[in-house]
Amino acid sequence: MLSKHFTALAAFATGAVLAVNQTGPYHIHITGKTDKSIDGYAASYHAGAAIEALVYVSGPANGTSQEYYYDYQSYNPETGEVFQPGYIVWQLPLSGVNGTTYVPEALTIESRGNWASNVAPAMFYPGTDGGAAVRFYDDEGAGAGANHSVYLTGRDDSGYTDQRPEQGPGPLVDATNWHLCYQYVGGGGYWYQTVSWVFALPPSNPTCLPVNLALELI
Ligand SMILES: *[C@@H]1O[C@H](CO)[C@@H](O)[C@H](O)[C@H]1NC(C)=O
Ligand SMILES: *[C@@H]1O[C@H](CO)[C@@H](O)[C@H](O)[C@H]1NC(C)=O
Ligand SMILES: *[C@@H]1O[C@H](CO)[C@@H](O)[C@H](O)[C@H]1NC(C)=O
Ligand SMILES: *[C@@H]1O[C@H](CO)[C@@H](O)[C@H](O)[C@H]1NC(C)=O
Repeated sequence: MLSKHFTALAAFATGAVLAVNQTGPYHIHITGKTDKSIDGYAASYHAGAAIEALVYVSGPANGTSQEYYYDYQSYNPETGEVFQPGYIVWQLPLSGVNGTTYVPEALTIESRGNWASNVAPAMFYPGTDGGAAVRFYDDEGAGAGANHSVYLTGRDDSGYTDQRPEQGPGPLVDATNWHLCYQYVGGGGYWYQTVSWVFALPPSNPTCLPVNLALELI
């Protein structure tokens, strides 16, 4: 269950006190599930003061606006196993009198969204509170792990009845409902083909196309 990358970084971390437990940088590779012409990388595009949308750009990744990190909560110091889920983080560069500093921004699904839609864009706001819980498969082995796919972590409520389950809310599951959708973001000022989450199929926005996201270590 443990990747080379995580092992190496976790081993390094045991010798030092880190402000965050983090791996990366990564590119976010976007490939179409049905439309195979979709093959590109995510980029952070301006959508307001210190706010960015996660936008699709075709072709190879190029530059720091396409570099992301994976922050996780903890790991096992003996085995190096990383405990997921974590957050995808973009480092917003800020120019100041002392040069460039970076503000970490965790990927989140827009929660101040369009209530007439079942589509919400993936966004970055300053800080890491409120980031979407992300699991990704970085195993070197076979199966789902080999492709580094990114999932959001949630609870399957499709079996709920009107009785409160004694065992509590049930296990976390991987969900994948990533789409590319043309839409306004940032309060309406910016029109982009955004990486988006569709809460229920089919998406109300007819431009949405299903995609897979994968974290590729740079
Ligand atoms: C990468 O970005 C730089 C700066 O915007 C640009 O000059 C260069 O042509 C780009 N390279 C590719 C391969 O797109
Ligand atoms: C990083 O992981 C270690 C080991 O689980 C944990 O003790 C530490 O609190 C974590 N650090 C942060 C900043 O989360
Ligand atoms: C810039 O660096 C100087 C010297 O370290 C420090 O006194 C000053 O507060 C810094 N300014 C900002 C805006 O961080
Ligand atoms: C990666 O694996 C998942 C789970 O098996 C699968 O749904 C997805 O289509 C795969 N993605 C790619 C790009 O192969």
